[in-house]
Amino acid sequence: MLFTRLQQRKVPDHMCGIIGYVGSQGTDVTSILLDGLARLEYRGYDSAGIAVLSPSGELELHRRAGKIANLAATVENGSRPGLSTLGIGHTRWATHGRPNDENAHPHPDCTGSLTVVHNGIIENYAELRQELQGSGHVFRSETDTEVLAHLVEHAYTGEAQGDLTEAVRLALQRVTGSYAIGVVSRDHPDLLVGARCNGPLVVGLGENEQFLASDITAILKHTRRVIILEEGEIVTLRPTGVAITTLDGTPVQRDAIIVEWDAEAAEKGGYPHFVIKEINEQPEALRRALLGRVRDGQLHLAELQRMEQEGLLNNIQRIVVVACGTSYHAGLIAKYVIERWARIPVEAVTAAEFRYSDPIVGPETLCIAVTQSGETADTLVGIRQARERGAPVIAVTNVVASAITRISDAVLYLQAGPEIGVVATKTFVSSVAVLYLLGLYLGQARGRITPEQAHEYLAALELLPEQIGQILAHAVSADDSIQPLAKRMARVSSIMFIGRGVGYPTALEGALKLKEISYIHAEGFPAGELKHGSIALLDPDTPLIGIATASHVYEKVVSNIQEVRARDAHVIVVATEGDEKIRLHADDILYVPATLEELSPLLASVPLQLFAYHVAVARGCNVDQPRNLAKSVTVE
Ligand code: AGP
Repeated sequence: MLFTRLQQRKVPDHMCGIIGYVGSQGTDVTSILLDGLARLEYRGYDSAGIAVLSPSGELELHRRAGKIANLAATVENGSRPGLSTLGIGHTRWATHGRPNDENAHPHPDCTGSLTVVHNGIIENYAELRQELQGSGHVFRSETDTEVLAHLVEHAYTGEAQGDLTEAVRLALQRVTGSYAIGVVSRDHPDLLVGARCNGPLVVGLGENEQFLASDITAILKHTRRVIILEEGEIVTLRPTGVAITTLDGTPVQRDAIIVEWDAEAAEKGGYPHFVIKEINEQPEALRRALLGRVRDGQLHLAELQRMEQEGLLNNIQRIVVVACGTSYHAGLIAKYVIERWARIPVEAVTAAEFRYSDPIVGPETLCIAVTQSGETADTLVGIRQARERGAPVIAVTNVVASAITRISDAVLYLQAGPEIGVVATKTFVSSVAVLYLLGLYLGQARGRITPEQAHEYLAALELLPEQIGQILAHAVSADDSIQPLAKRMARVSSIMFIGRGVGYPTALEGALKLKEISYIHAEGFPAGELKHGSIALLDPDTPLIGIATASHVYEKVVSNIQEVRARDAHVIVVATEGDEKIRLHADDILYVPATLEELSPLLASVPLQLFAYHVAVARGCNVDQPRNLAKSVTVE
């Protein structure tokens, strides 16, 4: 079945949206671009732009901060480009440079004769920018992307001698990082060039016209004949056809496929819900959280340099993590690991309580704000108060230029791309990963962990994306046990979750996911706390899920599970592959690959997310927009 095969492609994603068109006849290219961008808006919506070749042969640029509607209004109220044969467009999820008109794509070269749209991150953009400025190129934006326009210009007027595809190929050989790009030049009204490396890009085949897009959603209206570009490929699109080569110029043959989806489904990349799509994006989201920060087994948190230079981290006596909901659970995991690695007291507090508790914080208290949206009111007001009392602040967030970034001394971005499902999944995994990096950084800075120990943790961290991939692959295999279990559990009215150490916040997160999307009452407890009262809730109709992955408290967790079993409760455990002993104590077991104890929440959380998702689906709940919830809670 075509649908299944496409799902297995797992396209990594940096979560802006790009689109391009080339045709032989004068066409309303502006509408094609704007419509396509609107279908890509879920990918990023903080600024957008188009470039269309005008009948007079100029590349007309329209760029606007804000949603596509803003750009469309600007185009309609301004000089709307006429019929054309060529154009590119972009909707942005900012990574480098604030979301404003100047930083919106497309980015032109010095002369405006060629322009570029880009989805991804150019890691070595700073040194390339310096080099290009040294040879006279003038930069107009804060983005990493603009170096591509000038690099192509440099090659085009130099070694490539006016061959646009060759110029793009030469330019890309200079960059490190990830990209999916579209390039057009006013000198070539019948030519559109695209390329990808760790960024999704598809080609849509038409009659005397071709399309380029970040994914099928943007072009499904025009064609169902699609070519999926692979890593390291460059495509040259002309009205009459397309030619693909590798980055070193080797020609590539690729058959088109016929897509059977409707546009709405395509937006979900073939998944029935954004939540399950985002759960499946976690390996890539995790890789991106580590991107540029873990290199050759070494940790690099350049974002903290200025705080170091200003000595803001020199006299830190304690750490307070301020957050809400899932982000608070990520903060609680950080408490356990930062205390272990850096031997500094860490408190994780819910922001709403922190705000009104007259908190004891000052210059010696490092406050870490964890908020994927960067707009959660409780967290913002709590952090503002901490700042007023002189506390240095590091923000861990997914949204560039969000409110939290404006009140923090340093920002560690998740780079997870927009998360549309209201329940946080991939941003939870990315937040925890970034907090691990911060913990290792502080541990090394305080000389509490050796470079060898840090190397071991970083190596295990870099293995996690693949290990999560194994859990996800198993969950769609014939041996999957999560879906059948979820169907069996879909009628219960309450489920309890327990764990010890880092397993406790993992239990809290599992309970929250289940509550949010299935509306089943669920509660997470420290396993050792159960016998002090809550065990009274247990009976044969109230199942319990225990986090029993390998850890220094494993035996203690097992004995807590035995206490529960003695009350005839149905016991489900998340355990480490190879653990045969646990079979004696559980009715159902969700195995996860082995990793270091501190990192285990990132593996144990995935089957809990899948369990919650499949229970919610079995109960017919609106998984993407659960009742009473909002993606970003911007009110106290
Ligand atoms: C998690 O699934 C929920 N969406 C919610 O608890 C969320 O984590 C909380 O509102 C905090 O949001 P933030 O990370 O954007 O600050």
